[in-house]
Amino acid sequence: MPVLGDIFGADRRRPTLHEMELAKTLGPIYERKLLDIHLTIVAGGRLAAECNDEQRWARALAGPTLKFREITGSGLFTARTRDPLWAQARHILDPGFAQGALRVYHEAMTSVADDLVASWTADTVVDVHRAMTDATLEVIARAGFSRDLGLFSEAGPQPEVADLLQTLATVLSWASESSNDLPVIGPIRGAWQRRSFAGGLDRVRDYVDGIVADRVAGREPERDDLLGLMLNSADPETGEMLPHDNIRDQVLTFLVAGHETTAALLETVVWYLARHPDLAARVRAEAGMRGFDYAGVAGMKFTRSVLNEALRLWPAVPAYFRTARVDQQLGGYDIPAGHTVLVHALSSQRDTDVWGDDAATFRPDRWEAKALREFPDRFFTPFGTGPRACIGRAFAMQESALMISRLADAFDLAFADPADDARSAPEMRERGTLRPAPYRLTCTARTPVT
Ligand code: HEM
Repeated sequence: MPVLGDIFGADRRRPTLHEMELAKTLGPIYERKLLDIHLTIVAGGRLAAECNDEQRWARALAGPTLKFREITGSGLFTARTRDPLWAQARHILDPGFAQGALRVYHEAMTSVADDLVASWTADTVVDVHRAMTDATLEVIARAGFSRDLGLFSEAGPQPEVADLLQTLATVLSWASESSNDLPVIGPIRGAWQRRSFAGGLDRVRDYVDGIVADRVAGREPERDDLLGLMLNSADPETGEMLPHDNIRDQVLTFLVAGHETTAALLETVVWYLARHPDLAARVRAEAGMRGFDYAGVAGMKFTRSVLNEALRLWPAVPAYFRTARVDQQLGGYDIPAGHTVLVHALSSQRDTDVWGDDAATFRPDRWEAKALREFPDRFFTPFGTGPRACIGRAFAMQESALMISRLADAFDLAFADPADDARSAPEMRERGTLRPAPYRLTCTARTPVT
């Protein structure tokens, strides 16, 4: 429309899913106009790969991600790359996500898997959304900060956990729904949203400050976890320690970034296993062969193929922004230095040009090494790209392989609602991340290997 541009063409509830539909007709690169803003969407695998070239493009902290700064401040995910605390924190925390550290976390991850299996044994009809939120929060709290949040205990969770989830839910909806706000509406919506979660967020911050203070004052023992690493290590390059208010932002970052995305992955995979019992049987057989110790889980190739396939079709972070460092051409169009584009990973990871004709089909066997060689230009960036790529990738894959294999081993999974049986893919919901709409399962206990 004149002046307003395309604002009525946006779908606030399903912005990136809607964009996936548009891309099918508009092609691998197109532009949307919102007042005087021109947003370039890159939705084809080959062009998206060009935008991941760090020489020519950089990560842009824009759009929905900016909203998360309200919770996580200058934690890793929402810090600007030029902020010296980002590099410092990354140097200090990288070893906390390396293989040696994951071995240490295996015990905490296993304790949550035990709790999850026990809770699904007790309740035959399971709310998968709730279960995966609880499990992933507990994993990061127990592995990262040696805290049990009580999500699986009879006494119930700490009240601050409810505050965190409530605040996060508000920020997530805000992040998603405000992506096409007019310049006038944006600040008004922002002020209103901030007021609605301010009290809860203060309580969450106090809670996390308490966790840090307990450790510093020796009320909690020293531990080999992420919190211990942040409190006791200096940046090997500068010799600087992280300030305590930054450590608080990092703890909140891990609680938020570590659970929402991983829960989305677990829910997606469980949905496909319930839909395809033959795949669940293969996951189960692999678990029977390898066992559930650290090395056993790390080497579960087929289970990891299932995880990758879910991440390919339904990346929890479905799009990200990149800014051109230099003047250049992209898909035949001039892109001036400083211009920001939206890389639509959701579409690019299903591009038939780079993934073959059945790109929209859930087929884990495409991840088998020989089959993969057929797609040398495949595009797959569910964990982002470059120096700002996900620090928790290996953590999330190990955790997810453990949870999925334990569940497949312990239960026959079936949908509680017949509508799910009639679908070929989960119904997805957008709220900052892309996550299946809540669904329920009926679980029948098997005789597990463990
Ligand atoms: C960054 C996805 C699990 C912590 C990212 C980014 C993506 C992503 C796409 C880059 C975002 C951007 O460039 O704007 C995922 C997915 C996960 C997952 C799909 C699970 C399946 C985790 C876990 C943790 C974590 C388990 C921590 C325990 C972070 C942090 C960053 C990040 C701290 C920011 C890194 C930096 O900028 O230095 N993640 N993530 N993530 N993720 Fe994850």
